[in-house]
Amino acid sequence: MEKEQLRELLNRMTLDEKLGQLTQLTGEHFAGKIDDEMVETGPAMEDLDLSEEQVGTVGSVLGSSSAKVINLIQEKYLERSRLKIPLLFMHDAIHGYRTIFPIPLGLSCSWDSEIVKKVAAYTATELRAAGIQVNFSPMTDLVRDSRWGRVMEAFGEDHILSGRLGKAMIDGYQKEVNGRIGEHGVAACLKHFAAYGAVHAGKDYASVDMSLREFFGYYARPYEIALEAKPRMVMSSFNSFNGEPVTASKYLLKEVLRDKFQFEGIVISDWGAVAEIKSAGVAENDKEAATEAFKAGVDIEMVSSNYLRHGADIVNASEELQTWLDAAVLRILTLKNNLGLFENPYVNEEEEAVLLRSEEAIAFAKQAAVESCVLLKNEKVLPINASVKNILILGPFAKTKELMGGWSCKGRFEETISLEEGIRTTFQAAKVNAYEKLEECPADLYEKADIILLTIGEPWYQSGEGHSSTNIELAAEQQELVREVKKSGKNFACIGFSGRPLALESVIEDIPALLWCWYLGNCAGTAVAELISGAATPSGKLTMSFPRVTGQTPLYYNEYRSGKPANDSSYSSRYQDCEIGPLYSFGHGLSYADIEYSNIQLSAATITEQRTVQLSMEITNNSEYDTKETVILYMDDPVSKNVRPVKEMLDYQRITLPPYTKKKVVFDIKAEDMKYINNQLEKVLEPGEINLYLNDGKTPIGKLIYVS
Ligand code: BGC
Repeated sequence: MEKEQLRELLNRMTLDEKLGQLTQLTGEHFAGKIDDEMVETGPAMEDLDLSEEQVGTVGSVLGSSSAKVINLIQEKYLERSRLKIPLLFMHDAIHGYRTIFPIPLGLSCSWDSEIVKKVAAYTATELRAAGIQVNFSPMTDLVRDSRWGRVMEAFGEDHILSGRLGKAMIDGYQKEVNGRIGEHGVAACLKHFAAYGAVHAGKDYASVDMSLREFFGYYARPYEIALEAKPRMVMSSFNSFNGEPVTASKYLLKEVLRDKFQFEGIVISDWGAVAEIKSAGVAENDKEAATEAFKAGVDIEMVSSNYLRHGADIVNASEELQTWLDAAVLRILTLKNNLGLFENPYVNEEEEAVLLRSEEAIAFAKQAAVESCVLLKNEKVLPINASVKNILILGPFAKTKELMGGWSCKGRFEETISLEEGIRTTFQAAKVNAYEKLEECPADLYEKADIILLTIGEPWYQSGEGHSSTNIELAAEQQELVREVKKSGKNFACIGFSGRPLALESVIEDIPALLWCWYLGNCAGTAVAELISGAATPSGKLTMSFPRVTGQTPLYYNEYRSGKPANDSSYSSRYQDCEIGPLYSFGHGLSYADIEYSNIQLSAATITEQRTVQLSMEITNNSEYDTKETVILYMDDPVSKNVRPVKEMLDYQRITLPPYTKKKVVFDIKAEDMKYINNQLEKVLEPGEINLYLNDGKTPIGKLIYVS
């Protein structure tokens, strides 16, 4: 349809039909339950108090999928629809639809935008084949507190990395060609705007109160960067921000999102969040809640019915809102049109089977899984010798296929490779035995084992939405298991699975090698086995710090300087009962390869607004391992008018390093990137020295003088 035709369509719509477009419900409101195909992803639905006619005007559906189901819902809906405006279907496929890739926190440890983009592209192909046109992903909430269950959905504690990976994911979903969503592409919905990752004390749905300097300097940055990829939709977050429920915040959704960040797409509330304006106590009744959300510019209300029930009264009383309503409806019609729904609202049922779980997608899921793992510790245990005869796998994740992770959409356990299966396939000449509990393992098998792979971690269902924890230590029985195995004197390595960084201080001394695998999706077992055998080399680096104990959270590498920096004295910024700093910091990750940095040089000693400076170096792989290396560049600004972090990431690059090769890496350093937001909300950099660091962030590699 041409723009003009869309306007004509808008002009023919009644007020109720317009309000319908602004409402989203789940599939059963339209076609009833079909087998087990309906998925409810959020908290249980309340009674919506809508008539059948009202439901017949609703503009979009969430949580239903599969070509057959979507076609049925669409067909029944269009039969009754006066203007034949097709439904738009949305879903949460945050790390794959049917082919499941590593959880986003795992993917971020690859530091690789290309990987993230490809994961998104495969996901989009599957979603589109299953009848979905909008994906509620990526989530670029900055996360610093691993008690929050949703850290598994995020890209970690650095704002630049989170933003860049979010942007790559949007590109992958939308597959844009000439400004339009490409074939097999879906519209991305960036979420959850804003600062949801900062919920107080890591408790889900709690409030967020923060300075605007902190917000614009850090928490808002990932969204701002990701918005460059032009996601068609943004979801408002559940939290309140400085006293306003975000879904009612004109400041965040209009002044910041629309005016400052220039977002032109659709704003959708989170599940039931318009109704929650009332439960948060800033609206007296449903009508007031809807009014606040309208005024804040929330285009679509997700699964609550305040817009439909009260919208007409509210809009009739305000010319401003009438204009806004038309603009909102037009945004939704435009998206439907750009997705080609007016021409063909249906999906090809035969094609779906061909496009789901393609060989290519599965192969890529393994690669992504390999690159998501982080080798945290290795006292010459890994990789294990290819000629080992007896391998014993122990612990809660030894045999399970439940290795996909939370939000696994249509992924299936039976299509997931367990660690036991992966190890058997990779070490074909060895005898492999697996037991979840030590007591189950016969003594002679234990004795005979050349290596024990001891699995530790947290079950997948303990992280994700609504799964915040006060305690992120390793479970007591697992600590005991580590101690038992250590005591027996056997050669062993630990393999960790979790949706969040865990606090491992209680066991780390007893563990000689530790590979952290998050949740890796369908190919988990194969990926881990290849890393264990040395067929693949670990190359992931942490994007979220591992605390020593729960009480250190929130914990992140770029904390602000203190006037009393942590040291041996009690009167320094530290805890009295815990060593200083994380157990493993952001950026930590070991390799099997012997990687050497040399010839590190700056092209100039001073930097100005006009003059960028090149930092160059040579990186050599002195080993037979084919690997990748992420080079992380940090800075610190020793003297500034406002307090700045102890260090900040300036940039990073990821390179491939085949065996015995050398590569040159060059960073272009700009003064703009070294600036900070001061407490007047200006972006500034005072003249003076800036120190630069690589990787571990501890050894200075040079300094630059900024001249304004
Ligand atoms: C979550 C969102 C999700 C939505 C729809 C909510 O409960 O917070 O992340 O996209 O449900 O499933």
